[in-house]
Amino acid sequence: STDIESALGGDSLLVVSNRQPYKHSYDDDGTITVDRPAGGLTAGIDPVMQKTDGTWVAWGDGDADEEIVDEDDCVRVPPESEAYTLKRVWLTEEEVEDYYYGYSNQVLWPVCHGGMWKTKFANEFWTTYRDVNETFADAVVEQYDDDSLIWFQDYHFGLAPRMVREELPEAFLMHFWHIPWPSWDSVRSLPNHEEVLDGLLGNDLLGFHTDSYCENFLHCVDEAFETAFVDLDGKKVRYDGHTTYVESFPLSVDFDDIASKSAEADDEWWGEFRDSYGIGDGVQVAVGIDRLDYTKGIPERLDALARLWEEHPEWRGELTFFQKGSPSRSRISDYKELQEEVEEAVARINRRFGTDDWQPVIYTEEMLSETDLYGLCRHSDVALVSPLRDGMNLVAKEYVAAQHDEDGVLILSNQAGAHEEFGDDAVTINPRDIDEFVEQLQYALTMEDDERGERMRRLRDTVEEYDLFAWLEDSLTTARDVKRQRDAEASE
Ligand code: G6P
Repeated sequence: STDIESALGGDSLLVVSNRQPYKHSYDDDGTITVDRPAGGLTAGIDPVMQKTDGTWVAWGDGDADEEIVDEDDCVRVPPESEAYTLKRVWLTEEEVEDYYYGYSNQVLWPVCHGGMWKTKFANEFWTTYRDVNETFADAVVEQYDDDSLIWFQDYHFGLAPRMVREELPEAFLMHFWHIPWPSWDSVRSLPNHEEVLDGLLGNDLLGFHTDSYCENFLHCVDEAFETAFVDLDGKKVRYDGHTTYVESFPLSVDFDDIASKSAEADDEWWGEFRDSYGIGDGVQVAVGIDRLDYTKGIPERLDALARLWEEHPEWRGELTFFQKGSPSRSRISDYKELQEEVEEAVARINRRFGTDDWQPVIYTEEMLSETDLYGLCRHSDVALVSPLRDGMNLVAKEYVAAQHDEDGVLILSNQAGAHEEFGDDAVTINPRDIDEFVEQLQYALTMEDDERGERMRRLRDTVEEYDLFAWLEDSLTTARDVKRQRDAEASE
């Protein structure tokens, strides 16, 4: 973290994200409790914020959030050490409906994941998305100091960078887009795509997970704006008198933290975990961990497993698949339907193949502790990470980091950003090709120990080398370089 601090060089971060790092809610008995950061990103940026005392702007979605803030809607967090400022932005129910469930999750999300047929557009989605971006932009301008480095996160803020740029021409703005950036043919199907491209070009530095997302973005700008000068090799755009650098930073996980937590989940823990779910001795375990999202390919995965038990009956009674699903965005019908589809498919498989002492698929939506999740990853024989499309997929990296004993196999979709780093150290599948999926499952389940060890060691090296802190350092060092470049050009 000293490298991260030195990359910041005395500047302080002004982070903007939709989800907040701390949330205040009322308990059953009316007392206020604080929820900790859960996701990889909030958990990763939080320690840097604590060290450098920045400001984090986010949607206050907890029912007790308003109780805790000062007159500027700010609260010092974390509660016990008050190391930095969390500025909460309030949204009405209608705004949440149209900005979050609407343009963000029923327009941008499907288009960026190549699922244009899932797009549901309404004009209020767009106007509200713009208004909410304006609200966030105002909050950023209000919180801004001369030494602030503004850092937007994700697709909820496609317009705010331009809005902030207009108010603060000298500010340094960067943005990380956490989902794929698709090809021009997809992007041109996005209502108001020109405004979104223009909004993002308000940034000085724009980050994506992979080089191909960067190339797609640059190509889109080239197609959309005649007046933009796109330098593909230099990875930058000159547009409207301003330069935006476009660079890839593959997001990662806290390798050491996951490895040490999974180490706590020893053989005794695993025995108890198996017992509690009725997984018999000697039965191999495959694992899937996902938000319930149609991009994750869960029904396709279940189809492949059913086919395996059908065509390779030797796996009946010998392999259990454990799927953890986290309900998500359930007010959107596509997400609700997916949840039902998954539950039905699981029940169907269990009826068809299950016996008195063997359940083929265990499906749970229960909250699992980090020890449980990482322990499950450590001890499972195979992980199935088979999204139809995924910006990165951090579960693939978590599985690898938790693999202490280096004897598990990662089956990975060629549609996950993580595949660009892992390549064929993982067992690669096309999630839509069920024959290949079954073949690769069979291959993974019967893989010799030597090959398991070699592949897993290489995967672990990859994640250990470029972990979450390397990602932070890489992003902030690049920001510093771009800023110097910009200042040098300005003084010429
Ligand atoms: C994806 C997005 C994140 C988002 C997360 C959970 O990973 O890139 O920005 O926070 O999904 O989704 P939610 O809608 O619950 O925030």
